[in-house]
Amino acid sequence: MKMWAGRFKKETDEKVNDFNSSISFDCRLYEEDIKGSIAHATMLYSCNIIEKEDYEKIISGLTEILEDIKKGNIEFTSQYEDIHMCVEAILTEKIGLSGKKLHTARSRNDQVALDIRLYIKKEIKNIEELVKELIKVIINKAEDNLETIMPGYTHLQRAQPVTFAHYIMAYAQMLKRDLSRLSDTYDRMDEMPLGSGALATTTYPINRQQVSDLLGFKKVTENSLDGVSDRDFIIELGSDLSILMMHLSRFSEEIIFWCSSEAGFVTLDDAFSTGSSIMPQKKNPDVAELVRGKTGRVYGNLMAILTVMKALPLAYNKDMQEDKEGIFDSIDTVKMCLEVFKNMFDTLKINKETMRKAALGGFINATDCADYLVKKGLAFRDAYKIVGQLVGYCTDNNKDLSSLSMEEYKNLSPVFEEDVYDAISLETCVKERKVFGGPSIESVKTQIKNLKEYI
Ligand code: ARG
Repeated sequence: MKMWAGRFKKETDEKVNDFNSSISFDCRLYEEDIKGSIAHATMLYSCNIIEKEDYEKIISGLTEILEDIKKGNIEFTSQYEDIHMCVEAILTEKIGLSGKKLHTARSRNDQVALDIRLYIKKEIKNIEELVKELIKVIINKAEDNLETIMPGYTHLQRAQPVTFAHYIMAYAQMLKRDLSRLSDTYDRMDEMPLGSGALATTTYPINRQQVSDLLGFKKVTENSLDGVSDRDFIIELGSDLSILMMHLSRFSEEIIFWCSSEAGFVTLDDAFSTGSSIMPQKKNPDVAELVRGKTGRVYGNLMAILTVMKALPLAYNKDMQEDKEGIFDSIDTVKMCLEVFKNMFDTLKINKETMRKAALGGFINATDCADYLVKKGLAFRDAYKIVGQLVGYCTDNNKDLSSLSMEEYKNLSPVFEEDVYDAISLETCVKERKVFGGPSIESVKTQIKNLKEYI
């Protein structure tokens, strides 16, 4: 029989029962639900709303239920509409009349608003830790590759030489911003909604601040209608996670390209690649591809919750029960991706020689050759034109800039001298870019130092 059976003449339709029930997915909020109830009961007792005896029974009953759930002794079936009803029903079964007093001055509306906030706060901290671990792995690889020269690209065409350290530190910078986005979201949502009641608080003399302190919130929500209706923190986290996945998917795409036979810049560890069922030679970057692919579901979950919340009137509407599965899925997905990606990247072998060879081709030092002429007194546009002609000459004669003879150089400009060879060597191209934020060893070391301090 339903809790509200008094008001109704018929039993709920069986299909509606299943349709309405959220226990299959909100059961993961059991710990938050019980902790919230313990704080609520503690407050009810200290405000003289319930008796000491009831309070003690409630606390020990809830504590036992928590242990039972952790031990796997409780089955979440759709006889319970949701985790809140489930815990209350089991409690009442256990301790009788006292259990029926727990829900005094509370509604499931503020209860679920509390539970989901507690859960998301916990998971933001977990995700932040995983992001930091990935940043550390990137930093380690960067420190091993401060002098590993590779081509940098624009339009996926070889453009200017950089180092592998500089390249991957770009991703560490993106992850740093992801961290700061997560922490902004956390700070903004760190408000305790319990006491909002169904929508208009309560006439009981409750102490919201006490509940907030017991549960470790920064402050109490200031408007009861907003307290039960606000889900923007879920949307915010969904956006943070989408942006994070976008970064991981770009990084994955690079790795997929790097380990192709065409590039050969890196070799995946056997433990992080897979074979083919038909082609014996294959070694596939499935991990990176799956991270790239799973980005789609995280974006999808964000669109879903944005659409659910669009145009919902105040205050609680059952539509909002649809807030959970998507964000749970995004949280699970991101955590899994961060963990696997980190280990895959950690075990990646860097083929320094292949990277260097690629950097030697494609006239990647053409800008530096033009800059050389500028340093000898030419205007940049004139220098640019001369080097353009040199590149054309090289292409026609199957040569590159560093293999041209002095005579060939002088044919295009008398300004060229022996020192041009050193000026356009890959090492010089990288070493001389010592501007703050550049690829030179010193600049990248500064970058690494700053990021280490940040995390
Ligand atoms: N299972 C519900 C949810 O997740 C809990 C709140 C139910 N409130 C209500 N008025 N029916 O949204």
